[in-house]
Amino acid sequence: MHLNLLPLLVMLHITSSAHVHIHAHANTAGPRPNHPVKTIASIKVIDTPLVRAAQDLAHTHNDEHAYKHVMRSWLFGVLLISHNETLRRTIDLEVHAVAALLHDLGWDKSPTSPFVSPDRRFEVDGAIASRNFIRSHPHGSRWEERRVQLVWDAIALHTEPRIAWFKEPDVEVVQKGIGMDFSGPGFGVTRQEYDAVLREFPTRGFRDNLNGTMIWLCQTKPQSTYETFIQPWGDRYVAGYEAQQTIDGIFRNFP
Ligand SMILES: *[C@@H]1O[C@H](CO)[C@@H](O)[C@H](O)[C@H]1NC(C)=O
Ligand SMILES: *[C@@H]1O[C@H](CO)[C@@H](O)[C@H](O)[C@H]1NC(C)=O
Repeated sequence: MHLNLLPLLVMLHITSSAHVHIHAHANTAGPRPNHPVKTIASIKVIDTPLVRAAQDLAHTHNDEHAYKHVMRSWLFGVLLISHNETLRRTIDLEVHAVAALLHDLGWDKSPTSPFVSPDRRFEVDGAIASRNFIRSHPHGSRWEERRVQLVWDAIALHTEPRIAWFKEPDVEVVQKGIGMDFSGPGFGVTRQEYDAVLREFPTRGFRDNLNGTMIWLCQTKPQSTYETFIQPWGDRYVAGYEAQQTIDGIFRNFP
């Protein structure tokens, strides 16, 4: 319903002189008209106090490689949006920025990480940490719940494109921006634009770093990685890792 309604409301907004209050309040979901911008790698991005605080949080709690990865993921998403008229009209750029920047808080390997749980999927750790971050920020605390939920969903589902691509466009775009860091340019983003991002935030060392992070997750909380894209690292590199799902197992406690 939301998907069908939004373009209609946007159209009304453009064609009618009556006030249609979909953009009227800065804390409601939808595009962010007249938002402050800054330029990174020749790309104009939204620049609000909350986005800056999210960038700082990512910088503090991600290592160098993960930080560059989240920055690239944000910029690839912004480029993807810029190539698509519908997305330009509908995506909430602040929701997109916060979700992209904070999507890997669950990779914080510090033993005193305030975000990493012993048992939840790292995506869920990141989603919960980001929701707490938004609610405790003076501007984020005024966000309507729908925007908080979009950030939560976008982060929780960022490794599940087969779900995320069928949710709200905000959730879909966060996933596609992140995915482009693994699969190269796509969705209208040109090789030239893509390479400009890589020059600003080089990928050197990211592969080994990612390999190490995946193994760390399989060692420290294996059950959170079974049946996910991370499982192959556990199967290959972690002794005692037992992910086999069997039909007998599924039916073991079946009523
Ligand atoms: C724009 O994005 C929407 C949502 O992902 C998609 O359905 C549509 O096909 C895209 N348009 C173009 C021209 O790529
Ligand atoms: C991943 O790390 C393990 C353990 O350090 C190493 O043996 C393996 O070669 C690495 N794999 C890749 C694909 O880099």
